[in-house]
Amino acid sequence: PLPRPYQALLPVPAVLKPTRTDGTTDYYEITQRSASLRILPGLNTPAWTYEGSFPGPTLVSRSGRRTVVRHHNELPHPTVVHLHGGHTPYDSDGYPTALILPTGAHASSSGTPGMADMPGMAQAPRPAAGARTYTYPMDQRAATLWYHDHRMGFTGPNVWRGLAGFHLVHDDEELALSLPSGERDLPLMIADRSFAADGTFRYPALDAAQGTPGVTDPYMDGVLGDVILVNGAPWPVLETQRLRYRLRLLNASNARRYRLALDPQPPGGGGLVQIGGDGGLLERPLAHDELGIAPAERFDVVVDFSRYRPGTRVRLVNRLGSGRTAEVMRFDVSSSARPPADDSAVPARLSTVAALDPTHAVATRTFLFQRSSGGTGWTINGQPYRPGHSLATPRLGTTEVWRFVTDFHHPVHLHLNHFQVMARNNSSPGPYDAGWKDTVDLRPAESLEIVTRFTDYPGRFMLHCHNLEHEDMAMMADFVTE
Ligand code: C2O
Ligand code: CU
Repeated sequence: PLPRPYQALLPVPAVLKPTRTDGTTDYYEITQRSASLRILPGLNTPAWTYEGSFPGPTLVSRSGRRTVVRHHNELPHPTVVHLHGGHTPYDSDGYPTALILPTGAHASSSGTPGMADMPGMAQAPRPAAGARTYTYPMDQRAATLWYHDHRMGFTGPNVWRGLAGFHLVHDDEELALSLPSGERDLPLMIADRSFAADGTFRYPALDAAQGTPGVTDPYMDGVLGDVILVNGAPWPVLETQRLRYRLRLLNASNARRYRLALDPQPPGGGGLVQIGGDGGLLERPLAHDELGIAPAERFDVVVDFSRYRPGTRVRLVNRLGSGRTAEVMRFDVSSSARPPADDSAVPARLSTVAALDPTHAVATRTFLFQRSSGGTGWTINGQPYRPGHSLATPRLGTTEVWRFVTDFHHPVHLHLNHFQVMARNNSSPGPYDAGWKDTVDLRPAESLEIVTRFTDYPGRFMLHCHNLEHEDMAMMADFVTE
């Protein structure tokens, strides 16, 4: 018995307080633990959580101030934490075998015997017992980041069970803009899930004991759910004033893409005013009628609800869905006739996004994303993921062009650097490719070119498909910067 849409109120994840701060650094502690969540009316959903909630608590950093997060693993299985969109040294980046073993476990129960001794693994961090400290320099622009599990072979089931949260970065430039803030700056984590009749999450893992990665055959294209959650609540409602709101849209679904639109649109259309993407503010706002959003992408938009008549109910719909998966959430606009004064603004100029010059590229590399020839998994350049084996060794301080080619649909994610989309099938990038990106929706039969610059951190990083089932079934590659 699925819940009806628009019965729940939109939850907003709590902001985590640092346990300590000093002149340069904010320190946090997060415990990963099992919790029983109330997602569906009258039913309990056992989940794996950061600090007991799904989404996990929101971390808020200031650009230029180091953030140190110590994660304790009280779950029954090993985990790994990746800060998605972080410009992070390799030893804190969530390398997929850099496990945090459960509290009380021995290093030998890592599930990856002898891994640390494999060639290439000298540059990869080793498993840690019980807890691991992640250090984020936060030498990066204001942006909407998120953290989630990244364990090799089991990211899909771990995120599905609840291991995901927001990590926001602010900087002076952004704070000077008078964008909507406080209660009107809302992170919205959109994620589909399926439930069994007793309220437990339903996930078609090949092996629930987490010995063998992957999902059963009918789910090779990725696992879709029939309940759309926003911030962990099914099809929730938010009561809004007739003011501007900043909505930080994140698609945290394992495999579902959405085409989001406001229904009704405000008079004149263009109700979704994009101010930023994965890697922070755009140069100028960009008005959209709808937004295509693939897994792991973020769109930072401002919606001005004063453009609606008092009392309008505005649904955020998914034009790629049908029935209930075509519904996402609803904004109930205040019925008071006089909107309060709005002290926020969307300036015509937001930031500077210096275009990377592809003619400066020292290398052009092609990565082919396809099903493995045996049909048992997914590959990049014909290779299933092997930790310690890299497909590229870019030099720090240089610019490269990377070309992604496929016959299927893959949201491609690059760790370490943000990038700019140069071209799709040799044509100009699409309407959702603006600004700095870290994940890009690679479409069937497409060849897509990005340009990126490798900076700061030597080490072993990842390129992978962010369809989490594809990722778990080996559509991932290492690259090593030096
Ligand atoms: Cu959001 Cu390597 O992942
Ligand atoms: Cu994929």
